[in-house]
Amino acid sequence: MEFTIKSGSPEKQRTACVVVGVFDNRKLTLSAELIDRAANGYLSEIIRRGDMEGKLGSSLLLHNVPGTLSDRVLLVGLGKEREFREAEFRRALRTAVKLLNETGSYEAVIYVTEESVKKRDIGWRIEHAVVMAMEAVYRFDQMKSNPPELRRPLRKLTLSVPQRSNLATGEAAVNRGMAIASGIKLAKDMGNLPGNICTPTYMGEQALALATELPVIKATVLDRAEIEKLGMGSFLSVTNGSAQPPRFIILEYYGATRKQKPVVLVGKGITFDTGGISLKPGDAMDEMKYDMCGAGSVLGVFRSLGELKPAVNAVGLIATCENMPGSRATKPGDVVKSMSGQTIEILNTDAEGRLVLCDALTYAERFEPAAVVDIATLTGACLIALGNVVAGLFSNNDGLARELLAAGENSYDRAWHMPLLDDYQEQLASNFADFANIGGRPGGAITAACFLSKFAKKFNWAHLDIAGVAWKGGKEKGATGRPVALLVHYLVAQAPDAA
Ligand code: BES
Ligand code: MN
Ligand code: ZN
Repeated sequence: MEFTIKSGSPEKQRTACVVVGVFDNRKLTLSAELIDRAANGYLSEIIRRGDMEGKLGSSLLLHNVPGTLSDRVLLVGLGKEREFREAEFRRALRTAVKLLNETGSYEAVIYVTEESVKKRDIGWRIEHAVVMAMEAVYRFDQMKSNPPELRRPLRKLTLSVPQRSNLATGEAAVNRGMAIASGIKLAKDMGNLPGNICTPTYMGEQALALATELPVIKATVLDRAEIEKLGMGSFLSVTNGSAQPPRFIILEYYGATRKQKPVVLVGKGITFDTGGISLKPGDAMDEMKYDMCGAGSVLGVFRSLGELKPAVNAVGLIATCENMPGSRATKPGDVVKSMSGQTIEILNTDAEGRLVLCDALTYAERFEPAAVVDIATLTGACLIALGNVVAGLFSNNDGLARELLAAGENSYDRAWHMPLLDDYQEQLASNFADFANIGGRPGGAITAACFLSKFAKKFNWAHLDIAGVAWKGGKEKGATGRPVALLVHYLVAQAPDAA
């Protein structure tokens, strides 16, 4: 989809559709007011009759409104004016774009971006409008033999800004929004692909394809022999039951001077998690194809970086394999040696994410990172603790945690700070190795983070447990692309010229 920024009167737009907001209860926004005046009270008449109350999520499509130059006028409900905040803004945009896409307008001019949102400037509104528009038209039908086709899909959106002096800010925000949206789309596509297609080999190929398409990205893909040579005994123990070979992927983006230390992102890339010998129950097991969403988000972030080209340095590390049972599979009680030299008693083969991540964290040391952030669908316990709203954030550095929380707020891709206290470490005690890979049911998301912290002593590190937010189940089943927006915001804020 193509986006442009414009400043001008709604009644004068020669376009397929003009989109203006109405507040609850029946209050026209300024742009709706302008159309109403040009149309001699046509909108107020409709509203008086009760066809549009302004409730959030509602809409009314009008044709041939007198006094205007557009084919259609779409009224969207914005809810109560005093309650019009980030979530309401985003929802109104999504409603509008979904409708435009389904009702035959191939282009439109949206005025909702002119409505003020508390504490958010025009740049925020434009960026989020772009991201929401791209989310609203997202579909995953690569696997359908006869994908349903829209007759006239939405191709071009013009977003209105109140003043001509907003044009430059608006255009920069469009670029940011487009880059974030294409990172989100890549992360969603990777997540939604089934486990028989999105294998570790496929993930490696996607990384190389990304680097070919965007030359500012470098990708290196290591195979089993190279992973063995690095001594990643913990990572490799997870692959034992699988016929699919593992991959270790290194992505590099240098947008700042070489002496600037990079941020390293580490993604969990279990392309299917059966639990291994500690086999999972069958219920909704298909959703464990999403166990590579941390890795997918890392790939997505690098797509965004490659398009936006901010002045930062970043490295992405992806440890990807399948977790399968089988005659060669790792068994409960097995002891393995990690790349760090620390030994691990694997009491539960379903706690495999931490086993692949720990070796990737050790590998991260060689980049002398400014910070390391791992992203993982790590624990069911995090989903139980926080639900589907926020990601769990753990860190050994409060400054880093604050920056990530702020990035989550600004991108509306929010995280919540969880405790990483030494007191929890004793739950990982083992009689047979340096420590065990599980800490029992109490505080399961925390003990998983404690396990990782043992491999993150040499740098500032944060861990995002995205088990609850990486995908949606039920009727809306699908990957969310989170936390690409959070991570891109965090990285862009590291650039020296960041506002
Ligand atoms: N990938 C799962 C975590 C998960 C489960 C994410 C359900 C989202 C939804 C992870 O590998 C896992 O199986 N974790 C175990 C750990 C336990 C054995 C200590 C869990 O959460 O049950
Ligand atoms: Mn598991
Ligand atoms: Zn898993």
